[in-house]
Amino acid sequence: MGESQFDVILDHYRNPRNYGELSDASVKVKDSNPLCGDVVEVYLKINGGVVEKASFRGHGCAISQASASMLIESIQGKSLDDVKALDKGSVFEMLGIEVGPVRVKCALLPLKALKAAVYSYLGTKMDTREFEE
Ligand code: FES
Repeated sequence: MGESQFDVILDHYRNPRNYGELSDASVKVKDSNPLCGDVVEVYLKINGGVVEKASFRGHGCAISQASASMLIESIQGKSLDDVKALDKGSVFEMLGIEVGPVRVKCALLPLKALKAAVYSYLGTKMDTREFEE
């Protein structure tokens, strides 16, 4: 039997990919979940409209940290337009498990920080409606 998606998530939680500060980041954004205090900080090195390198740091529940690890891994070398096109559905698909209402904010915290980083880099305003209840 293959490993379950829960094992994949736990593995990302225990061994986060691309973890740590990027000293030459073009932009970094930290966001937190006010309900629990969990934190995700995203670092992006951007060159010619492409994410040359991305990393993150953070602490919190397995879902928030695994979601950060998977998301950051998935955007290496991607264009900013591709990153801007990511939405809730992309995150849920990536996690591959049913995320209950209590955990939705955990799952989306990394995407929120990532998009804020891209919009801050571009100097344009981010539409935060997708992250509201
Ligand atoms: Fe805090 Fe999940 S419990 S982000």
